[in-house]
Amino acid sequence: MYPLDINRIACIGAGFVGGPLGAVIASKCSSVQVTVVDKDPARIHAWNSESLPLHELQLAEIISDIREHAEKSTECVKSRLIFSTDIQTAVQKAQLIFLCIDTPTRTSGPGSGFAPDLGNLKRAIEAIARTATDDKILVAKSTVPSGTSQVIRMLFEQHCRPDVKCEVLSNPEFLSEGTAIHDLLYPNRVVIGSQQTVSGKDAARKLAGVYQAWVPPSRIIFTDSLSAELGKLAANAMLAQRVSNINTLGTICEATGARIESVSQICGLDPRIGPHMLKASLGWGGGCFQKDILSLVNATRKLGLDQIASYWESVVWMNEHHKLNFQKRLVSCMGGSIKGRSITVLGFAFKKGTSDTKNSPAISLIRGLLACQAQVIIYDPMVPAKQIITDLHLTPGELERTTISHSPYSACSGANAVVVATDWDNFLCELSRNDEAQPLNWEHILKVMQEPKFIFDGRNILDCDFIRKLGGRYVRVGSPSEWDQLPVASL
Ligand SMILES: NC(=O)c1ccc[n+]([C@@H]2O[C@H](COP(=O)([O-])OP(=O)(O)OC[C@H]3O[C@@H](n4cnc5c(N)ncnc54)[C@H](O)[C@@H]3O)[C@@H](O)[C@H]2O)c1
Repeated sequence: MYPLDINRIACIGAGFVGGPLGAVIASKCSSVQVTVVDKDPARIHAWNSESLPLHELQLAEIISDIREHAEKSTECVKSRLIFSTDIQTAVQKAQLIFLCIDTPTRTSGPGSGFAPDLGNLKRAIEAIARTATDDKILVAKSTVPSGTSQVIRMLFEQHCRPDVKCEVLSNPEFLSEGTAIHDLLYPNRVVIGSQQTVSGKDAARKLAGVYQAWVPPSRIIFTDSLSAELGKLAANAMLAQRVSNINTLGTICEATGARIESVSQICGLDPRIGPHMLKASLGWGGGCFQKDILSLVNATRKLGLDQIASYWESVVWMNEHHKLNFQKRLVSCMGGSIKGRSITVLGFAFKKGTSDTKNSPAISLIRGLLACQAQVIIYDPMVPAKQIITDLHLTPGELERTTISHSPYSACSGANAVVVATDWDNFLCELSRNDEAQPLNWEHILKVMQEPKFIFDGRNILDCDFIRKLGGRYVRVGSPSEWDQLPVASL
C-alpha cells in the first residue's frame, strides 16, 4: 500500500491522453482536484461544452457524473475536474504535474523525419519551472526517447527558483484510442520510472498512491526512467511489427490461395505467440506507432547501431509498401484503370472507436485513388468533413472529384466500388451483426451501386458469402479473389 499524499494534480495537454487521464483520476480519487490545462482555448472550450473534443466510449458519462456530483456538492471544492487555459494557476497549485504533451515526428531541423519534436514539451517545462513556487513532481506521460527525464530535470533546474526542487518520473501511457477509458480504468500495467535515489523512489511511491485508488498494486511496476522510456517505445514498435508481420503474410496468401484468417489462427493458438494483433488489414495507422518506431530508429542510429536501426525502420516502410499494395490490387481487380470510376470509401478514422485520423491508411488510399483519376466519395460516422478535407491536402482538381457524404447510403449510391477502410462496427453485415451496433443494410447498398459492384474489404469485417449472394464482387485482404491479376508466386 502506498499513501495518497497528493491532493492537487495538473495535467498539461488536454488531448487524447491528458483529457481522459484527468477525468479518470478525478472520478477515482475523491480527495484529489485535477486541473487539465491546454494552451489551445478552443480545445478547452470544447472540454467545457456538451460536445467534447474527442470521441471515447464512457468519457462523456464520466465527466458528466463528476460535474453532476460537483453541482450537488456542499464542499468548498466545487469540482474535482477543471478544464482551463490558466496554466500558471494550475501549476502553482499542483503538487504533481502530468506532462501529456504531443511529441510528433520532427518535420525540419536535426533528425527531421525521425526524431520526435520535443519543442512543445520543453516550452511547457520552462513555463512550469518559471511558475513553480514550491517543489513539484513532474510525470512524463508523453512518449519520449530514453533519457528525456534527465533532460526535463536539467531544464527545470535551469529555469526554476533556487529554493524549488523537482523530481521527474517517467510514467508512459499505454492506452489505445477507441478504448482509452477502459484502458485507463483497467490497465494491464502502470510503469513508473524514477531516479534510483531516495527522493526519486519517494516520488514514485507518491504517484503509485494516486493509481492505487483503482489499480491493483501488482500491476504497478517500478523501474528506472531509462527503462520506462525505452519500454514504451519498444511496446509500440513490437505491436506495429506484429501487424506488419501478418500483413506481409496476407500478401503471400493472396498470391498462393492460402487464407490469412487460418494462418493467423494457426500462429495465434501457440501460447508463445498469442492471438492479439494478428488481423490482416489495409495497413496500420494512428499517431503513435510510426512516430515511436521512427524515434527508436533515430535513437538507435545516434548510438551507431545502424543495422538495428534499419531493422526497425523496415517495419515502417513495410507498412507503406502494404498500403500501396492494397491500392494497386484494387486498380488491378478493376481492370487496370479506375479513371472516371466512382469509388466510395467507408471510414476515414485510423480505426474504429475514435475520431482520430492521424496517419489513417484511408488518407494514402484516397490520395492514391485520386491520383488515378477516380471520383471518390467518403463517409465516416465520426470524423467531421472539415477534418477529412484538411487531412487530404487536395488540389483544386482533386477537390472537384471528392465528395464527403453524411450518409453511407447516399455515399454508395452509384458507386462502382466500395472500400471498407475503417473497422466501424456499424459497417458490419446483418449476418455478422454486433448487437450494440446498427449494421449497414448491404442489400440496399448493393442495389444502389453501379456495375461492376466491387466491395474491397480493407478490414476483413464483412461476410464474404453474404456480399457475393447480393451480387457484390467481394475482395478481402489476405485471400485471393477471382478478379486478382496477380501472378501466383512460386514459393
Ligand atoms: N493518443 C494516444 O493514443 C497515445 C497513447 C499513449 C501515449 N501517447 C503519447 O502521449 C502524448 C500526448 O498525446 P496525445 O494524443 O494526447 O496528443 P494530443 O495532440 O491529442 O494532445 C496534446 C495537447 O497538448 C497541448 N499542448 C502542447 N504544448 C503545450 C503547452 N506548452 N502547454 C499546454 N498545452 C500544450 C496541445 O495543444 C494538445 O491539445 C504523446 O507523446 C503521445 O505519443 C498518446
